[in-house]
Amino acid sequence: MATKKKSSPKTGRVDAAHAATTPTISKSPQGQSQETQRYGDVVKMPHGLSEAVVKKSVASLNQVLADTITLRDMYKKHHWQVVGPTFNQLHLLFDKHFEAQVELVDLLAERIQILGGVALAMAPDIAEETRIPRPPRGREPATVQLSRLIEAHTMILTYAREHAEKASDAGDAGTDDLLVSDVVRTNELQVWFLSEHLVAASPI
Ligand SMILES: [Fe+2]
Repeated sequence: MATKKKSSPKTGRVDAAHAATTPTISKSPQGQSQETQRYGDVVKMPHGLSEAVVKKSVASLNQVLADTITLRDMYKKHHWQVVGPTFNQLHLLFDKHFEAQVELVDLLAERIQILGGVALAMAPDIAEETRIPRPPRGREPATVQLSRLIEAHTMILTYAREHAEKASDAGDAGTDDLLVSDVVRTNELQVWFLSEHLVAASPI
């Protein structure tokens, strides 16, 4: 397909430098982008797992990925918007947890690709797939922020434990290990730190 050249709004002349450097996105004659692998399809990889097992693991991992990306972003939102006497502690804690969730996102997405699947990535797709309720755009009290985060962690933990067991039963030890050793262990640790902030101070 020929590159569409951009003309200057003032002169109407073609901007040669722009035309030379702007890449074109490959599209089919029907105007659709040409994908090399559709979402939901799996390609055969020499890892010794059957297509049926891989499809189930990829679907589970993409659900955990969508929820983990949502939780990751909720941590940054709360890092920025936290307010109150515990501002400094929570501001720092939320960012620390955000960083750990960033690592989980990469592990999950790369596990999906290792298996031969396609990992979810973009915000509109994550918004469609996540099970975690959308928080409001505005600020909320710190206790509400903590409760929202704990609720999201619990949803991820329950799902991850259930699907780790299914992966183990199906012989996909790598997915089982990732879900238990990384997802469950990290989320349990973070729930502990959050929950202790909601415990009322003991009377002196
Ligand atoms: Fe920051």
